[in-house]
Amino acid sequence: MGQVPIQVQILSAGADSSADSSADFQWSDRKEAATMFEMISYEKFRDTPNVRFFNITVPGSNARDLVYHDGPAISPNNTEAGHWQFYLHPGQEDNLLALSGGRTFFLVNFAWEVPFHIVRLEANGDILRIPPGTFHRSVSDPGGSLVINQAVRKAKATVQSEFRVYNSGQIPRLWEATVDYAPPPQLHGLSREGIAQPARLKQDAA
Ligand SMILES: [Fe+2]
Repeated sequence: MGQVPIQVQILSAGADSSADSSADFQWSDRKEAATMFEMISYEKFRDTPNVRFFNITVPGSNARDLVYHDGPAISPNNTEAGHWQFYLHPGQEDNLLALSGGRTFFLVNFAWEVPFHIVRLEANGDILRIPPGTFHRSVSDPGGSLVINQAVRKAKATVQSEFRVYNSGQIPRLWEATVDYAPPPQLHGLSREGIAQPARLKQDAA
């Protein structure tokens, strides 16, 4: 994975490359940034209790990541103060399929009409496509999960640019979109109960 070049498209006002920049974000390709996430179905040649045979090809994918969570892992992890952190890929589209276990994804994209969505990913269910420019984090079920990502990476991207971690406790707009008093997220396959980050965390942060 470390060998793959990835193109950087993020333009940040006054931001440096640190993981906890508090700068706001603008995108060089606003049309791309406004693309909604999708749940993509695929062809299941055979789906029986004993044999599953699927065509999971994602057209255009040029990279594959396999991520295993042993137990209820959070990715990226919360800060020591308990703030949610997120990934955001300026030059990569994620296409995520759970092979076993389940995972809950938290998506924030300020180009969307409703910026905050929470999406369930079930084993052998649809593929979750996350467009570039979308903040995302995930929490595995208690039994863990195994997820394959058939990514679409742009030519000049770098691992450093694509796998930065963004701390919601230091990015006011991201915090305001996800805190417990924020407008409710749109839920896809689950209820919100117990999954908003508490408002008090921001005040406790250093
Ligand atoms: Fe990702």
